[in-house]
Amino acid sequence: MLKQLNIQNVGPAQAMELQFGDRLNLLTGDNGLGKSFLLDIAWWALTRSWPAEVNNKLSTGMTAKPHGNERQRSGIEFSFLSNDEPVKGDYHFDHTSWYWESEHYVQFPGIVIYAQADGSMAIWDQVRNIYRHPNAMWRGVDPHNRPPAYVFSPDEIWNGLDDNTGKPLCNGLIADWAGWQKERGSTIKAFEEILAILSPSKDEEVKIGDLTRIRLTDVRDIPTLKMPYGQEVPIMHASSGIRRILSLCYLLVWVWQEHAQACKLLGTPKATQLVFLIDEVEAHLHPKWQRSILRSLFSMAKEIGRWLPDSQVQFIVSTHSPLILASMEPLFDPDRDKWFDIDLIPGNHHNPLVQLTDQPFTRRGDASNWLTSKAFDLKSGGSLEAEQVLEEASIRMNEGLIDADQVRAIEQKLRSVLGDTDPFWIRWRYILEKKGLQP
Ligand SMILES: Nc1ncnc2c1ncn2[C@@H]1O[C@H](COP(=O)(O)OP(=O)(O)OP(=O)(O)O)[C@@H](O)[C@H]1O
Ligand SMILES: [Mg+2]
Repeated sequence: MLKQLNIQNVGPAQAMELQFGDRLNLLTGDNGLGKSFLLDIAWWALTRSWPAEVNNKLSTGMTAKPHGNERQRSGIEFSFLSNDEPVKGDYHFDHTSWYWESEHYVQFPGIVIYAQADGSMAIWDQVRNIYRHPNAMWRGVDPHNRPPAYVFSPDEIWNGLDDNTGKPLCNGLIADWAGWQKERGSTIKAFEEILAILSPSKDEEVKIGDLTRIRLTDVRDIPTLKMPYGQEVPIMHASSGIRRILSLCYLLVWVWQEHAQACKLLGTPKATQLVFLIDEVEAHLHPKWQRSILRSLFSMAKEIGRWLPDSQVQFIVSTHSPLILASMEPLFDPDRDKWFDIDLIPGNHHNPLVQLTDQPFTRRGDASNWLTSKAFDLKSGGSLEAEQVLEEASIRMNEGLIDADQVRAIEQKLRSVLGDTDPFWIRWRYILEKKGLQP
């Protein structure tokens, strides 16, 4: 597990400091304030690779570049739960890449799964991948010629991933799923179970259908999904939300299966630590599914515990969704979970600064209360127009000098932006009565 991360002079803020929770870490903040950036840095700390450097089909996850061109001190410092000693990463301007200062070769002892916002995914497995950064500290030779990580574009998750010599690294979801289904062994069962766990609800369970063919010229057996409306739909026709969840389930089962094979081959024990980095965890999910996704991810972690007792699963998750935060209210455990918020604060010379803070998680009730919390900083959960008219109404009321004509004019404006059942009307009537005015 990632325990701590300190970043200096890299990314949107001058410094960011995070002490991670063992279970869930939520990241919130406006567009462009560094949520995805932080996930890239966490991935680098855990794997010492940058997704876009491993697979040039990716348009995100590039090498972090320090501020400006001056060779000012910049750094990424991190530690793992298994290794308290912090590792310091330094940027080497001549090589435009990162090095880490460490006497030892500090490797994360586990598996990392990174789901990016655009549907790309990256996997790192302590046994099958290796840090292959041109670091002067490590001069070992790897006889297995391991790849630095498995980094998939959305298409490669579906159709397979090759190394740069054309050798297959992964057959892809279509071929593997069809193969597992034909075997009728434990792999398809595990996949089915994970799919059921990550489904939006019991009555909307994502269920596996029979294999099918879709084109005369395509000899592949194509997996299908049983839809609630009775049809069996080939997976390439699946919706965006289902695709993301299918990809996550597939890569989890795939990495686990391949990890077990590799451990057997090398005679090494299996990993006990898994880290999931998920950017925009709500991406493509309907509000109903957004409400259950974190709970489902925790159940998935329990399921992983069934495959491997004593395993620890950590999530670092970014979100733009008030429903995700509201859904955590009954689950949040301050001993294991953390919430980090990134904000713009006033800075010197009229330039605002980006600041990351560790926020206490307090219950606020429903999603609309979360919209007006530190997580999203909105004044209200309604339309901008309604917000402006309500603000204007409240200023005029506070001024006190208001006659019946003005009241009517404000009320007309309010009627054009508020619904008949808006709770504001109760307040409006109350205020008018108190002031002795009749609407
Ligand atoms: N590779 C990088 N090197 C240096 N800085 C970067 C890098 N990638 C992103 N940043 C910084 O992070 C900022 C964008 O952050 P990021 O993409 O993480 O935003 P975000 O919070 O994920 O936004 P959104 O909600 O729109 O996804 C950039 O403006 C830039 O300052
Ligand atoms: Mg982002």
